[in-house]
Amino acid sequence: MIGTEEKINKPVDLANLTEGEKKHTPVIEAPETVIAGEPFEVIVTVGSIPHVMEEKHFIEWVELYLQNKLIGREELSPSGEKTAKVTFRVEADEALIAIKEIETCRVRGVNICGNCGEKSVIANLRAVEKCNIHGVWETYRQIEVMSGEEKEEGKKCVWKA
Ligand SMILES: [Fe+2]
Repeated sequence: MIGTEEKINKPVDLANLTEGEKKHTPVIEAPETVIAGEPFEVIVTVGSIPHVMEEKHFIEWVELYLQNKLIGREELSPSGEKTAKVTFRVEADEALIAIKEIETCRVRGVNICGNCGEKSVIANLRAVEKCNIHGVWETYRQIEVMSGEEKEEGKKCVWKA
């Protein structure tokens, strides 16, 4: 992946971003909780202060990853618009829950509803962007992925009550 081979710029102090850092660090808008197998939208904006999209200075592309898997990459061009905004359609795979179960030895990292046995995991969204002058920048956001598999009938899930 092009994005991961280049040096990634990181804000020095996350609590006190400089103006340049605010213009380049992507912002991820996503639901807090999603269900595996059900599509949802993730909007990536660059940045929290709009970055120009002019001939000489613009955001070249935006990528989105879910648990290190590339969801999509959008090539952008100078549009004269005030900001770069890309909407990705994302679907979390049920396998993501099983993989996390294995990674975490089936104990930590996976929440299991005490009533119905439904599972959920915290997954990582990563957005990366490249400015033609200021290079590659990234940001992360966590979402909870709940299993879409059938639950035990007759027992009320404590999460979906
Ligand atoms: Fe820039």
